[in-house]
Amino acid sequence: MSKLTISSKDVKNFKEIFSNENLIIREIIKDKFYDYFKEPILDIGSGTGDILSYALPNKKVIYLDVLDFSDHTIPDDHVRIVDDFFPILEKGILPKINTLFLCHVQQFIDHDIEYLNRNISHLDADNIVLVENTNTDFMKEIINFSNNTFINSNPELNLPNFPVGYKLVTSIEFVGKVNCTSFLNLATQCLYLMDVQPSSENLKVMQEYLKNNLNKPNLDINQRIKIYEKE
Ligand SMILES: C[S@@+](CC[C@H](N)C(=O)[O-])C[C@H]1O[C@@H](n2cnc3c(N)ncnc32)[C@H](O)[C@@H]1O
Repeated sequence: MSKLTISSKDVKNFKEIFSNENLIIREIIKDKFYDYFKEPILDIGSGTGDILSYALPNKKVIYLDVLDFSDHTIPDDHVRIVDDFFPILEKGILPKINTLFLCHVQQFIDHDIEYLNRNISHLDADNIVLVENTNTDFMKEIINFSNNTFINSNPELNLPNFPVGYKLVTSIEFVGKVNCTSFLNLATQCLYLMDVQPSSENLKVMQEYLKNNLNKPNLDINQRIKIYEKE
């Protein structure tokens, strides 16, 4: 099993309290990208599963996450598997998958891009839908600061050689908002985004950095949804 520093509570806090990104992603998928999702669909690192539960309630979806989010209700025909993405492939228990959905998960599975690409190729899906930060805004500065300041900083990066064997057919950009009531709150969320332990020392350092660079404890995050088809 991969070493994971975040908890299901961290994911829920960010997605349900501080950030509005999932509300935007689910509407875009429902309205603009519905037909690109060919069943069965595998949501890798699905978190609560709220996005596809809302956008695709009548399609066959398998939610795969190493953390347990089974306290969240999913549609009757959807399936939840609590397991690590990589060993589960070796176990061979997944059916033939036609669409892969990866939403803000790549920082946790990109430690070996070749291995990741091999595993993705092995699934042989027709389509891949990727949601990622563009890292063209202040997020780029936070990533630089984090990588230069904290040990084991592991932010979400754009992967130029992923996914191999697929071509980009369309994409949509949007802005997610992180709204916090204090810089301490925002520092906690930023350490979560950087996959850095929220120790009191790390929180203090991140809080100071944010205070010095932002007027309010709010952050806009430029993001995009990318649709790939098999070449
Ligand atoms: C930032 S959250 C995104 C959750 C969801 N995709 C969303 O956007 O709401 C990343 C998720 O990936 C999961 N994850 C990380 N590594 C994983 C792995 N190797 N296999 C399965 N899930 C993994 C984490 O447990 C976490 O729930």
